[in-house]
Amino acid sequence: MQVTMHEDIESVLYSEEDIARRVHEMGQAITADYADKAEEGITVISVLCGGAVFMTDLVRAINLPIAMDFMAVSSYGNAAQSSGVVRIIKDLTHEIAGRHVIIAEDIIDSGLTLNYLLDILAARNPASIAVAALLKKQVPNQAEVDCKYLGFECPNEFVVGYGLDFAEKYRNLPYVGILKPEVYKK
Ligand code: IMP
Ligand code: MG
Repeated sequence: MQVTMHEDIESVLYSEEDIARRVHEMGQAITADYADKAEEGITVISVLCGGAVFMTDLVRAINLPIAMDFMAVSSYGNAAQSSGVVRIIKDLTHEIAGRHVIIAEDIIDSGLTLNYLLDILAARNPASIAVAALLKKQVPNQAEVDCKYLGFECPNEFVVGYGLDFAEKYRNLPYVGILKPEVYKK
């Protein structure tokens, strides 16, 4: 049996072109804001696996020397709702003390993951920390997250693609979309 992905998508929220345009703008804003900080060192951190697709596009839109590093924290599992439970599965490879850190995140939902990460990373004495998130969901009771660079405010739906998964699938879709309800029931 042939298994492909596009048939599982009910609607596309942000097309490949929408995302490319926005990520490019975010990269330009970061380039302007950090041009005078590059000498001290800039590290762009991606939170695996969801943030990886966004991060690799974002760094190519930044016209400054940067280091890349990766962290993995537990997130959704296979459920479509945030558990709020986060733990470090993989830590950074390099030190961030004295460096300017930019966290590239896929989505801010409850906000718990990012706030947890911000606390951990702030304790390592970086020169500064900022968040760049592709999406921020409009949800009630979202924790306050200081997000300096935001791609899109997205509706309160479970979305997949461009790094975001359902049960580890659909991360490699080039757009962000909403799954057909029957896919959850498979
Ligand atoms: P939080 O609720 O802000 O802590 O979000 C934690 C993580 O849940 C995010 O980094 C995503 O990996 C994942 N997540 C949140 N909303 C969605 C979604 O709509 N689709 C896929 N993953 C999501
Ligand atoms: Mg994530």
